[in-house]
Amino acid sequence: MLAIISLAIFAALPRVSGHAALWHPSMFGFNVTQQTFPYDNRPVVPIKNMNFTEWWFHNHLAYPPNAGDIFELPAGKPATAEIACNKGATSFFASSEGGDIRNASNPNDVCPGSPTTEYHTNGVNDLEGCSLAIAYKNDSAAVQPEDFTVFSVNQTCVFNRFTDFQVPARMPACPPGGCICAFFWIHAPDSGGEENYMNGFKCNVTGSTSNVPVAQSTVARRCGADPVNKKFVGSAANCTYGAKTPFYWFNNERNNMFEGTFSPPVYNNLYNFLDGAQNDIFNDSYVSIPEPGIAAALPTLAHITAPSSPASAPAAPTPTAASNTTIFITAASSPTASSDGTTVASSIPSSASSGTSTSPTASSAAAVVTAPFGADGYAYKRDMSNAHVLANRASSAKFRLNQESRRRRAVVRRRSWFW
Ligand SMILES: *[C@@H]1O[C@H](CO)[C@@H](O)[C@H](O)[C@H]1NC(C)=O
Ligand SMILES: *[C@@H]1O[C@H](CO)[C@@H](O)[C@H](O)[C@H]1NC(C)=O
Ligand SMILES: *[C@@H]1O[C@H](CO)[C@@H](O)[C@H](O)[C@H]1NC(C)=O
Ligand SMILES: *[C@@H]1O[C@H](CO)[C@@H](O)[C@H](O)[C@H]1NC(C)=O
Ligand SMILES: *[C@@H]1O[C@H](CO)[C@@H](O)[C@H](O)[C@H]1NC(C)=O
Ligand SMILES: *[C@@H]1O[C@H](CO)[C@@H](O)[C@H](O)[C@H]1NC(C)=O
Ligand SMILES: *[C@@H]1O[C@H](CO)[C@@H](O)[C@H](O)[C@H]1NC(C)=O
Ligand SMILES: *[C@@H]1O[C@H](CO)[C@@H](O)[C@H](O)[C@H]1NC(C)=O
Ligand SMILES: *[C@@H]1O[C@H](CO)[C@@H](O)[C@H](O)[C@H]1NC(C)=O
Repeated sequence: MLAIISLAIFAALPRVSGHAALWHPSMFGFNVTQQTFPYDNRPVVPIKNMNFTEWWFHNHLAYPPNAGDIFELPAGKPATAEIACNKGATSFFASSEGGDIRNASNPNDVCPGSPTTEYHTNGVNDLEGCSLAIAYKNDSAAVQPEDFTVFSVNQTCVFNRFTDFQVPARMPACPPGGCICAFFWIHAPDSGGEENYMNGFKCNVTGSTSNVPVAQSTVARRCGADPVNKKFVGSAANCTYGAKTPFYWFNNERNNMFEGTFSPPVYNNLYNFLDGAQNDIFNDSYVSIPEPGIAAALPTLAHITAPSSPASAPAAPTPTAASNTTIFITAASSPTASSDGTTVASSIPSSASSGTSTSPTASSAAAVVTAPFGADGYAYKRDMSNAHVLANRASSAKFRLNQESRRRRAVVRRRSWFW
């Protein structure tokens, strides 16, 4: 009888449900289903308002991958991950409760049979990015939140099942047994409630040519222009440079971000998480990184030309406007820019505040990147694709329109937390 009832319930459930996870046999919680925990703790379920043990690694540390299953990170090359709302939509469908639900006519479909709102986007113009972070430890139980460093960002995420993450060329080798990695995502504020996503997995850097360790990560600051919140000018000096910790937000314990409901921390230029490989995360990437602040000096990059070159070879990078380099002439150029950031910006010598990003080859590995946007607060957008620029405009407009109704909904939601 019970079996019949539960079968009936099962049949009535939709085959897929929303949200998203990074799926790979190297992940913690690969086979966790709706029934594994007393609550729905599938890898795709969002994380919020939880205690540390509940949210950390999605509470999947007791569900490790099989020995030998590891996600390879080829230094200087892209690693392709599969992100989907259900394991059945990935190459690993064989062990999914619902079997193969991949979309034959669109292999990149994150959530076949569902609208994009199921993975918290109103479309390609409404993406805020996701990231991969690494801890150079081989014991998942020993990994602490501060051990993670974001090494790759994909700002066009979550939108394609096959999502490329560029691996910095100078990633050092992992300890014996490999490293511990995690996927992190916080979606746009206009496509669902505030929440985090985290999936841990075992990873290993291959083809490594550098021994320089990843620096201790620090918390990223919200330094970019943020027109939605009426901040029209970014402040390059206010950015966190170098190794940055993932965002831990909206839980009960061990948060490192305290942004409000309508200003989620996001993996893009707003927090100086540039698209692609995070090439400046190494111990020797900078000659100095001053404490950030709106009146701080910009950091000085080391000019690393080869993985083996000494850390002490500072050089002011030559400003360049080559259109195919990944950026950035920062600050300085616009003393007329309005309000915050101006004084700082105009006092920065331009020679020390520009740079380019080299292609990810082993011999010219370090990206020389100082700031994600100019003093005018808009330059940062130049490094984004047209799609992103249009995206931002469209979503800002939409956001403004929706703001009032969202506020009302939020009040209701907030009440419900306390009741
Ligand atoms: C979370 O932690 C608080 C404070 O330690 C405790 O009162 C509460 O019961 C915990 N909740 C869960 C679900 O463990
Ligand atoms: C997941 O389930 C599949 C199919 O039952 C099994 O072959 C595999 O070993 C399981 N993996 C883990 C990590 O439990
Ligand atoms: C599969 O992808 C195509 C192309 O994007 C789309 O038109 C179709 O609706 C998708 N099928 C399902 C079942 O989602
Ligand atoms: C992000 O992933 C998409 C889909 O795989 C890919 O086309 C794009 O190049 C990736 N972006 C970066 C910066 O690697
Ligand atoms: C983990 O790394 C340490 C050295 O960092 C090594 O002694 C230990 O054997 C490794 N464990 C595994 C399971 O490989
Ligand atoms: C990690 O990659 C290195 C380099 O290819 C290799 O020697 C090592 O055995 C790998 N470790 C694991 C646990 O796969
Ligand atoms: C680089 O490593 C040295 C030695 O471990 C350490 O003292 C220093 O703080 C590190 N610098 C950075 C930026 O992580
Ligand atoms: C500077 O960063 C802090 C911390 O993220 C943020 O609260 C503040 O709004 C930022 N100010 C400017 C002008 O960027
Ligand atoms: C980058 O641009 C320069 C100058 O415009 C050109 O010579 C070079 O071939 C370009 N490189 C790539 C990889 O497109």
